[in-house]
Amino acid sequence: MRKVLIAGNWKMHKTNEEAEALAKEILRGLAETKGVEVALCPPFTALERVKKVIEGSEIALGAQNVFWEEEGAFTGEISPKMLIAIGCKYVIIGHSERRKYFKESDEQVNRKLSKAIKMGLIPILCVGETLEERKANKTWSVVERQLTSALNGFQGEGEIVVAYEPVWAIGTGIPATGEDALEVILKIRERLSELLNESFASSTRILYGGSVTPDNIMEFLKFKEIDGALVGGASVKSESFIGIVKKAALRGET
Ligand code: 13P
Repeated sequence: MRKVLIAGNWKMHKTNEEAEALAKEILRGLAETKGVEVALCPPFTALERVKKVIEGSEIALGAQNVFWEEEGAFTGEISPKMLIAIGCKYVIIGHSERRKYFKESDEQVNRKLSKAIKMGLIPILCVGETLEERKANKTWSVVERQLTSALNGFQGEGEIVVAYEPVWAIGTGIPATGEDALEVILKIRERLSELLNESFASSTRILYGGSVTPDNIMEFLKFKEIDGALVGGASVKSESFIGIVKKAALRGET
């Protein structure tokens, strides 16, 4: 069984004080909610503060990026070892904002993913096409390339999560339809089966991300093949994030 995962990507939001306050609100708001795994991914500077808040709860901690070396002269970078020491379980890798603004290549994403897995982190690998690519009917060829190259050399020696995040749906208020997301997610699972094996594919969680709100989350989660969401904007307000998680928790009862 794949447990629904709702991960909040706080992006470059929240000072450590603000992050602590938000984490406290979320923890309080979800105290009675069961059946969904929740992960919070604050900026590096707030990881430790958020960890202290959620310690002892079921809420997991994630980072938004990682470098592929354990330590050394790499100014400004953060290693998997450091993330593990602070208590991270997850790390977002290959987010489209990193690909776009920091020119992260498929090869770099592969190096980050390989090292993160080797060190015991669970990568949340982001894949997704731009609007131009979608218009040119290249959605699947782009997602397939990103997925295949990210997993180059990987033989199923650890857990991964895949997040399908169409770039045109991120931060635009225009989510994909549930059907569009499902179509790509089914293909991702099929490709995972080819690259690894059927049991790996069927146990891997594949999320949708892009303008998810409490009002549209069930549009995605009504499909059993969609295993949760990676949430940006709606994750930095406690009310909307709690709303998403509470709705997601109802899926098990429907
Ligand atoms: P929004 O939910 O703000 O569209 O962002 C999605 C995202 O990029 C999560 O990683």
